[in-house]
Amino acid sequence: MNYKYEIAKKINKITNVDTENITDYVEVPPNPEMGDFAFPCFKLAKDLKKAPPVIANEIKDKIVLDDIISKVEVVGGYINFFINKKSFVKSVLDEALGKGEEYGKSDLGKGKTIVIDYSSPNIAKPFHIGHLRTTVIGGSLYKIYKYLGYNVVGINHLGDWGMGVSKTIAGYEMWKNEYSFDENPINSILAIYVRFNKLEKEDSTIIEKARNVLIRLEKGEEEATRIWKWIIDISLENYKKVYDLLGSEFDSYNGEAFYNDKMDRVIKELEEKELLKDSEGAKVVEMPDNMPPCIIITSAGTTIYATRDLAALLYRIDNYNFSKALYVVGSEQALHFKQVFKTLELMGYEKYAKVCEHIPFGLILDENGEKIGSRKGGQLLTLEEILNESIEKSLEIIEEKNPTLENKEEVAKMVGVGAIIFNDLSNNRIKDEIFNWKELLNFNGETGPYLQYTYVRTRSILRNSNEVLENIDYDMLLDSEAIEVIRKLSEYPDIIKNAANKNEPSLISRHLIDLAQCFSRFYNEHHIMCDNIETKKARIALTKAVGDTIKSGLGLLGIKTPERM
Ligand code: ARG
Repeated sequence: MNYKYEIAKKINKITNVDTENITDYVEVPPNPEMGDFAFPCFKLAKDLKKAPPVIANEIKDKIVLDDIISKVEVVGGYINFFINKKSFVKSVLDEALGKGEEYGKSDLGKGKTIVIDYSSPNIAKPFHIGHLRTTVIGGSLYKIYKYLGYNVVGINHLGDWGMGVSKTIAGYEMWKNEYSFDENPINSILAIYVRFNKLEKEDSTIIEKARNVLIRLEKGEEEATRIWKWIIDISLENYKKVYDLLGSEFDSYNGEAFYNDKMDRVIKELEEKELLKDSEGAKVVEMPDNMPPCIIITSAGTTIYATRDLAALLYRIDNYNFSKALYVVGSEQALHFKQVFKTLELMGYEKYAKVCEHIPFGLILDENGEKIGSRKGGQLLTLEEILNESIEKSLEIIEEKNPTLENKEEVAKMVGVGAIIFNDLSNNRIKDEIFNWKELLNFNGETGPYLQYTYVRTRSILRNSNEVLENIDYDMLLDSEAIEVIRKLSEYPDIIKNAANKNEPSLISRHLIDLAQCFSRFYNEHHIMCDNIETKKARIALTKAVGDTIKSGLGLLGIKTPERM
């Protein structure tokens, strides 16, 4: 039952305003005493040319109460709706139990393609904690859109071209004899990269070596190309370990180098449309609104990051015909994306430029508010190290709490990785994230492990009962704690849609915490395995719906759920 729609229908009967238009105006009031739903009449004031309280009273007088809506009240310009609790409980639980772990799934996005560009690390640089947020936020959006029936293309736009990788190649050619590449070649490669950067600070001429490598690469010289490919392989092998741990999925690893032979088209189209202007030896597209120009060809005659992104966009238009293209990249690249999207628009692809969106996010800070991740010696901690540390810490906690648990290692992996992912997704993405081991692994806090633990509790209740969940008497769930749980369950499908609309997975994580806390209150207040068989059955059914919904929601965040822990 879609209550918002039912309410809109009733208002339509009285006022004639379009039902579809007003469905979204129906709100859930901040506290249940004010009703289950509320309609803000000021939204109709302009159309009906009446004051909101007048509209509210008119609707109240004319509304027909029934099985769905049992009472209405007017408060100022709002009409508050009180629903019939019995039919509410039945409709929510029928739906939630019917769909189980797929509750809230829909085909809303059928026929539409969404391209999500995320993770996209620069090759031959450590996959450090700075890549966590794009990988986790993008990964969750990927799952959310799929759940809503969209065709989703996850793209890892690897930074596999340019000066970064050229520095590593130059360093490798100078110092390869000093390192071993047998065991963990990635470590030696990273060390070379770090060494090159350090040396560059002392001796600025060294950069010429890297420039020279880039020229050789652009010419396709065999030796430089061979080393380049080898470095990509080693890097990817390493990144894939992190992706495996995080459960990240990509449909394409087409990185920047993939567009090398697709840039001529960008330049040709820009020239044909007379958009390329000379500027201090470079070629640029001028931007409106005082925005700095978008550089297409540098004064050294080479193409650049933005040129590649334009080539990638043309490629994505041709190959995916997307209805949305998301770029999950840190806020420091905001200007870059504005310039690229504007250029695409100026090139005549307004339809696509309009649906390109940069999805920025905040920094990761430690508990003192400092940027996180430095190891002694200034090198950044790798994400793999951090994930493994979290898994180890989780294992210690499990050893202490439940030493006889089978498959402890596997559970520790789900808990340790889940804790890091949840911490990343638990607040509005634009806010800075605080990385604090104690908090993110706190089984009683607002954390991933807390939700996993709540899920495990629901499963243990189900295991201990052998009731067949049929012919449930929903009248047994009319106490206020149960109603609160059911209210949270009822909102879940809309929460998923909102999370997609705002590209904000934290809406789901916050909602799951609310749901789990409501369930805890219900659990503490009422004995689930009670003597009355009808009550027991109904409570177990509610427990199952909560467990399934937590599992579904955690899944959308990219977090796995153990059956025991
Ligand atoms: N490689 C870039 C970086 O690490 C991110 C790439 C984002 N995607 C894109 N299409 N520009 O900063």
